[in-house]
Amino acid sequence: MNRRYMRTMTKWLVAVFFGIYIFSLQAAGMDSNQAQIASCVACHGADGVGKADQYPNLQNQKTAYLVKQLRDFKSGARKDATMTTIAQSLSEADMQMLAIFFAQVK
Ligand code: HEC
Repeated sequence: MNRRYMRTMTKWLVAVFFGIYIFSLQAAGMDSNQAQIASCVACHGADGVGKADQYPNLQNQKTAYLVKQLRDFKSGARKDATMTTIAQSLSEADMQMLAIFFAQVK
């Protein structure tokens, strides 16, 4: 095996492993988003339509409104026994992701 061949092979291997690494990071990110979305659907529905009378619809709502409600639940500006507890575990990025998801889900 000559040197040139070895160098090319090394570059390929590095590229392939880097690709796998990035892919696994993305897959892990998707899983955690999906897990978070799943924690809302028991009440708000997988399609964002509330499962019972007391659970508001999130589908078709404005993203900015949904983010504001989640921030308000977290800060205590809006109070609800259930949503306050849930919102306390959400980061700003989680709120954005969840609001974007539920605003456009069909
Ligand atoms: C156990 C049931 C339950 C779960 C789980 C739940 N919610 Fe709620 N959610 C409610 C209830 C009840 C309300 C209405 C609160 C009120 O009357 O102020 C509400 C209200 C909201 C609102 C405000 C809607 C509006 O129109 O003002 C948003 C946004 C929201 N939830 C998002 C979420 C998200 C995102 C999750 C998952 C992280 C989630 N909820 C999980 C029960 C739930």
